[in-house]
This record gives sequence, C-alpha cells and structure tokens, in this order.
Amino acid sequence: MKMNQKLETELNENIPKHVAIIMDGNGRWAQKRFMPRVAGHKRGMEVVKTITKSASKLGVKVLTLYAFSTENWKRPQDEVSFLMKLPITFFNKFVPELIEEGVQVRVTGDIDGLPQATQDAVRKAIEDTAQGTKMILNFALNYGSRDEITKMVQSIAQAVNTKQLDVDKIDEQVIENHLQTNFLGELSNPDVLIRTSGEERISNFLLWQIAYSELVFTDTLWPDFDEKIFIEMIKEYQKRDRRFGAIKK
Ligand code: IPE
Ligand code: IPE
Ligand code: MG
Repeated sequence: MKMNQKLETELNENIPKHVAIIMDGNGRWAQKRFMPRVAGHKRGMEVVKTITKSASKLGVKVLTLYAFSTENWKRPQDEVSFLMKLPITFFNKFVPELIEEGVQVRVTGDIDGLPQATQDAVRKAIEDTAQGTKMILNFALNYGSRDEITKMVQSIAQAVNTKQLDVDKIDEQVIENHLQTNFLGELSNPDVLIRTSGEERISNFLLWQIAYSELVFTDTLWPDFDEKIFIEMIKEYQKRDRRFGAIKK
C-alpha cells in the first residue's frame, strides 16, 4: 500500500466540506536557508498545487487559500510586485491540470485593486476553469475581512437608502448575501481553518465566516507543508466535537 493511501484510510467519512488555509511562513522558510523571501513564495506556490490535489482527492468541496491580504501592501515593493506576479505564473503553469482535475478557480477579495496584468490572469483562470465541478479553489487575493465587512455595510446602507431594503429586514442572511463569499452559498463558512508557521492569529481572514470553524494550527512553514501534514490536520479536525452552541445529543 502506498504511503498516502494508508494515510487516507485513517480518515473517517467526516471530510470537511470547506477548508480554509492561512498559508504562512514563506519568508521565514527562505530566510532560514539564507535565500531571499521571494524564494519562499515561489516554493509556496508549488505547495498550493500539491494541497489542491490532495484536497480534491479527499472530497473537499471548497478550498479557500489566503494568498494576499489587504495589509500585505505594507511590504517592500519588490516583494509585493513578486507576489502580484505569482498568480500569473501559477495559472499559466497549472490551469490545464486544474481543468483536468475538475477544479474551478474563484477569487475572493478586491480584484479591481490588483495590477492590470494580475487582474487579467485571474479573470482568465476563472473563465477557463468555470466548468469544473469537483472542487472550488478559492483564492483570497487582496482580501481583508474588515474591508469586506465595510463594503457589506455600505451596500446594505445603499439598499436601505434607495428603499430597496427595509431596515427591519436586515438579518444574518442579508448580511451573508452581501459578503464576498456569497457565491459559495451554503458552503460559505469554513468547517476548518488551518494556519501554518506557528502563528496563532486570524490576520483579518474571514471574520464573519469562521464564527464556528474549528481552528487547527501547525508549526510547519507553508513551503514545508505536504499531504501528510494536511491529512494529520484533517484528522485533528475529525476529533473535534462541533456543538454550535447546542448540547451534545
Ligand atoms: C505567507 O508567508 C505569504 C504571504 C503573506 C503572502 P509570509 O510572507 O507571511 O512569511 P513569513 O510569515 O514572513 O515567514
Ligand atoms: C496572513 O499572513 C496573510 C496571508 C497568509 C496571505 P501575514 O504574514 O500577512 O500575517 P501577519 O502579519 O503575521 O499577521
Ligand atoms: Mg507571515
């Protein structure tokens, strides 16, 4: 029996439908090797492909990957411009494989705020993979939860202003309809949120959506992350008892 076949059989049926990952530690991975930080991002991109395949194979329906936050613009310009080119490289290289795997690419975040070439690559990847039905690979790109919530409030206020919406009608469903994850419908909220690199914080990721997500952390840096660790983390998720505020039956 092959190694990953063995690992997979240790998982029970309870595969999370929506897995979100804060892919962290690229810079530290490179610095440990006396390499420039961007070498870590490059390696991290390969891991994205590996984990996409693993997730799809396990039966995950939505994989949301935090690729660039609204706060990451604070980084040195050469690092930012490298990160802005990465989606172009990634999609050029992997879209044929993604199509073959039945993976549909989506992007959550402020796409219009990206450089034009990045926007073009993103829009093309979304279009080229639109027929994929096995799994959604959702990149959070130029995404920030506070930005998302601010925009949600603006658009709801606008709807109230123009009398399209009554204040009394604003409920959790209306709010979800105005969030950027709305297109995921009932799969909007991650079952599990994974963060690599040992940091145990949310860093402005999916604040509304993770209200009842299981949080799982690993010290492994993202470029060292692999299928084995991924499956270990899914197993950790499977040990959790999700109660959603109710009492166990
Ligand atoms: C995650 O790795 C990738 C992005 C945030 C774009 P980092 O670049 O944050 O790596 P560390 O945390 O500095 O090691
Ligand atoms: C979160 O990582 C953003 C992404 C992984 C894209 P950061 O490295 O930017 O977060 P902080 O600065 O450590 O909170
Ligand atoms: Mg980091």
